[in-house]
Amino acid sequence: MNCSKCNGEAVIRIAHANLSLCSVHFIEWLEERVERTVEKYKMLEGTKRLGIAVSGGKDSTTLLHVMKKIADKKGIEILGINVDLGIDQGKLYSSKSTEMALKNFEMLGIKYRIVNLEREYGFSIDEAKRGIHRPVCSTCGLSKRYITNWVALEEGLDTVATGHNVNDNAQFIMMGYLTGDVSNLSRLRSVAPSENGLIKKIKPLFLTYEKETLTYALLKKIPFILDSCPNTFRVGGRTQDSIRRNLEEMEDKVPGYMLNLVESFERKIRPALEEKYLKKEEVGKCKICGMPTSKDRDICSFCAVRIKMKKVKSLT
Ligand code: FES
Ligand code: ZN
Ligand code: ZN
Repeated sequence: MNCSKCNGEAVIRIAHANLSLCSVHFIEWLEERVERTVEKYKMLEGTKRLGIAVSGGKDSTTLLHVMKKIADKKGIEILGINVDLGIDQGKLYSSKSTEMALKNFEMLGIKYRIVNLEREYGFSIDEAKRGIHRPVCSTCGLSKRYITNWVALEEGLDTVATGHNVNDNAQFIMMGYLTGDVSNLSRLRSVAPSENGLIKKIKPLFLTYEKETLTYALLKKIPFILDSCPNTFRVGGRTQDSIRRNLEEMEDKVPGYMLNLVESFERKIRPALEEKYLKKEEVGKCKICGMPTSKDRDICSFCAVRIKMKKVKSLT
């Protein structure tokens, strides 16, 4: 297989773009693709300080490296954010992930904030999994969103980027179609503007496949953690997993399948859903931490989890 651009040996076939590329041309292609996505959705408009949420996996570390180049060109300052969640402490899943994030921050000379959930908020995800009746991934997601937003506000960031890729988005869309949860579905956006005390969030890998971020990370010798979170396979595991595999099989048969699903959703379906279903909740302030919460609640969901965990831990 020869590179479509230089005739050298290709390392990857990008069927949806009908291209085969060598290492040099693939790296160039991916960086341009992410940059085009950023421009297409006007992701960095008005941004002077950008936070990048880095878990230590292939997507977020690739995101960090590519966004550093884009931000440098635009004179935007970057802050890396990592949350050490305390997942699978027996096998050190979280500490290894944080170590990878740190390696990348240092390698690129990027300022960073690492927040240890247990040290700063009194509980780890392992403890929450055992201690409270709430799906562990939902507690984990809530903690990550809360802490990232908190750091962003404290550090005066304008925008935070996350590493969701085409496969993640396509899976989310299919899951939404399957369950009919249109309100949740209406929240999938390439750009979520800043509102009600929440920082603007962007997804620069919105149109980039998982295989492409993995190849980029490998070719650039980016340090990242290869293992997946051990909880992914337990919670909602089977359905989510089958959907993902079905989507990948379809992608093999019809190149660009997932990309079309995501692009047509963003262009046509989401705006229609948003108009009808996106809840424009009245927002109040959490009495404990001052962060936004729905008007009918005194405290935010994260503080509620913290209180529950404090009780559980005092009983053990
Ligand atoms: Fe949060 Fe797996 S990454 S539970
Ligand atoms: Zn080439
Ligand atoms: Zn709160």
